[in-house]
Amino acid sequence: MEVIKVKNYDELSEKASELIAEKLQKLAKPVLGLATGSTPEGLYQKLIEKYKCGDISFKHAQSFNLDEYVGLKKEDPNSYRYYMNEKLFQHVDISPEQTYVPAGDAAAPEKACKEYEEKIKAAGNIDIQILGIGLNGHIGFNEPHTPFTAETHIVDLDASTRQANARFFDSLADVPTQAMTMGIATIMKSKEILLLVSGEKKADTLAQVIQGEVSEALPASVLQNHPHVTIIADEAALSSL
Ligand code: GLP
Repeated sequence: MEVIKVKNYDELSEKASELIAEKLQKLAKPVLGLATGSTPEGLYQKLIEKYKCGDISFKHAQSFNLDEYVGLKKEDPNSYRYYMNEKLFQHVDISPEQTYVPAGDAAAPEKACKEYEEKIKAAGNIDIQILGIGLNGHIGFNEPHTPFTAETHIVDLDASTRQANARFFDSLADVPTQAMTMGIATIMKSKEILLLVSGEKKADTLAQVIQGEVSEALPASVLQNHPHVTIIADEAALSSL
């Protein structure tokens, strides 16, 4: 795993946007794996700026998001589809047919999970997957002890994850209890992975991910087994190393 240390969140976002811009410029049909949460927001802003300057285009790109809450409609401001539309898609030249987010509102969720895997395969797998990390080491919504062999599936969210994400909802009770997420095996099929980590709160988790044992108890530790992972982290996030 290559670790790129940057000073702060702004530098993290800039560096990440340069790596994604390079894929958009070099690949004929780039397939991007996208993440939500606070961490990639700066990256998306920088990509919008680069698009507006004419440096990049999403015309030939496809995107697959990591996860979506179960039970929220696409129009719900807390759905990850809504987040992606707001933070990136509506500002750049990507059409809705080129963007995929797990169907958290599907009537037949198991079938929707299988279809999501098929779509990723049909696109030729993800060229670069952006990841954030939860305080408990989750990636996507793969909570501790999710088998490394899991593909896209429905998960019960940890109480700590619901608590951490409650800041976006009116109350904790409004946070969905389940999500549909790419599995660890799905994520590991990506040709390249870009993990973004900012802030002291994540420092102990990140130190474990880089130096600890590979274990299903800490989902992100699986990244040690991937041949092409870049971690961009700021000084605060690397302060426990
Ligand atoms: C959510 C998402 C994850 C994300 C995590 C961390 O649980 N499902 O994909 O990495 O939050 O979010 P943040 O970047 O806001 O700390």
